[in-house]
Order: sequence, then C-alpha cells, then structure tokens
Amino acid sequence: MTPSQPPPIAIEIRGLTRSFGAVNALAGLDLEVYEGDLLGLVGSNGAGKTTTLRILATFLLPTSGTVKVLGHNVVTEAETVRGLIGYMPDFFGVYKDMEVEEYLDFFAACYRIPSARRPRVVLDVLELVGLADKRTALVGTLSRGMQQRLGLARVLIHQPRVLLLDEPASGLDPRARLELMAILQELQRMGKTIIISSHILRELETLCNRIAILEKGRLTYAGPSAGANQRDPDRGLLVWARVAGDATAAAAVLRGRPEVLDVQPVDHGLRIHLAPGEADAGLVAEVLVHGGFRLLELREERPGLEEVFLRMTTGET
Ligand SMILES: Nc1ncnc2c1ncn2[C@@H]1O[C@H](COP(=O)(O)OP(=O)(O)O)[C@@H](O)[C@H]1O
Ligand SMILES: [Mg+2]
Repeated sequence: MTPSQPPPIAIEIRGLTRSFGAVNALAGLDLEVYEGDLLGLVGSNGAGKTTTLRILATFLLPTSGTVKVLGHNVVTEAETVRGLIGYMPDFFGVYKDMEVEEYLDFFAACYRIPSARRPRVVLDVLELVGLADKRTALVGTLSRGMQQRLGLARVLIHQPRVLLLDEPASGLDPRARLELMAILQELQRMGKTIIISSHILRELETLCNRIAILEKGRLTYAGPSAGANQRDPDRGLLVWARVAGDATAAAAVLRGRPEVLDVQPVDHGLRIHLAPGEADAGLVAEVLVHGGFRLLELREERPGLEEVFLRMTTGET
C-alpha cells in the first residue's frame, strides 16, 4: 500500500491580513483545512477568530492575502462561495414571533428552494438538529440551546459542504453543549467540513480532529488535537522521574545531557524537559540507571491541550 494521501484541501488561507484602522486583527494568517475536518479555531478574545470566519463567509474583505473555499476565491467568486458555505455568526437575531417551521421556510425561500420542496427540506434539517417535535413552537419560546440548534438548522438549509460556526456553544449549559457537539460530529460523519471557534480549548479538544490556535492574528499551532495532546512539537516532552535518596545529584547528571533542556524538582521528584526530537522517557531511565541511581517511578507527562494553549498564548482576555 502507498502511504495515505492527505484529503483534498477545503479551505486555504495564505498570508491573510485584515486591519481596522490601526488594529491588525489578522497579521499574516496561513491555514489549511482539509475536506472532512472538524477544525477547532481557538484563541482568546480579540485573537481574530470572528474576523477570519467573516472573511471566509464573504462578509468582510481581506486587507491582503488570498482565501479560497473549495477552490473558489472569497473575493472574486463570493457568490459561488456563499452557496457552498453555511455561516453561523456569534450573535444572530431570531424572529421570536415566528414558528420554527415558518422561520426555516423563510430561509429556504431566500435560497430559492422551490416551495414544493421546502417542507421536506425543513423537516430534514429539523430532524438533523433534533427539533422535529418543535415544528410549530414559537421561536421565542425555545431554550437557548434549542435556538442555537435552530440557528444551525438554518445554515444547513441549502446543504452547504462547509460550515463556519462562530462560538456556537457559548452561553450553553453543559447538557445543551453536549447535544450540540453530538450534532456536529454527525455532520462531520456526513462529510461536511466544519470550522468551529471557541475561546475554551477544552471544549474542542475531544470534539475536533484538528485544532488551530490563533494569537493576535497569527497562527501559533495547527495540527491534530490528539497530537497536540501528546506532544508539544515546539517544546519537546516532559518526563517526571523519582529516584531513591537525594535527587540533587541525579538532576545534575541529567542537566549534563544535551537532550535535556531543563530539570526542576516537582512533586518529590524531577520534572525533566527534553529537547524536541527523539528523546523520551527511555533516555531518562537509561541516563539515571547508568548513573547509578535507583529509579522508583517514571512517567511521561502529557500536557493537556489546555496546558499547551496556556503556554502558547499570553492568556489575555
Ligand atoms: N469592525 C471592527 N472595527 C474595529 N475593530 C475590530 C472590528 N472587528 C474586529 N476588530 C478588532 O480586531 C481584533 C480581532 O477581533 P475578532 O476577530 O472579533 O476576535 P475574536 O473573535 O477572536 O474575539 C480585535 O482587536 C477587535 O477589537
Ligand atoms: Mg469572536
């Protein structure tokens, strides 16, 4: 078998900048999203998430750089791109006095779906987001979680291949959040390419297959969420070890190795920060045992994504 090819690129962002007066909301963003990705776009408030999504959705022009959705340029082919994407903004008005079904029928009409087909289309998206039994409820009577799911139903009406969701889980209680996440996984299984933004990394860690971390309009991490969970590529592994007796001499031996960046006493043991590359817990064990130390405990410390995120960002709000 030949090595598996990466899937085709669904979204391509190259050298994207956007300024608002003196503020550089995006300062040279490069990002690729593959077809079928459920990508988590993570960053503190003001990092540039909304700006990125609005540019992808053709609602905002870039200052410079190129952005393509399924091969189409968001500036010169905006009309085509609009047909391919479903964009759910961070705040959207709902028409509180409309019935759920009416509301979606209205948007179906906006997408010029023939009236004979609309009831079927509306029911399909309602079933997908678990609101079929709320067909005749007034939009204003729905819970916040249900309104978010209705918002999602609305952007699915024209069967877009790409979904851009700006902090859809914000303000939801844990249960409503889980329900929303389950729907997004279902949409990914259906083959959609999805970008979901959040300022809470933990929320996206298990949901998304890839994570992109933005800070001050630049990308600081893009890659598999699982990979980021295990190894922080720019930092190397952290290993924690406990030896019998005084650890000071063991720390000194470890510090003498070129693969070791730093050693700190932590938790009655030593936390060893290894340089990126081949070095792992096995090396630490070898160095200690060959140095004559009795090794009592050894483990790789796999930083959670949250920790990776905190290390990579300044944590401002
Ligand atoms: N319409 C606008 N006018 C002026 N500044 C803006 C505008 N939109 C965004 N910004 C600024 O651009 C930066 C990025 O904002 P945004 O993309 O909304 O970040 P995020 O969604 O990650 O919180 C912020 O400093 C914000 O104040
Ligand atoms: Mg935002």
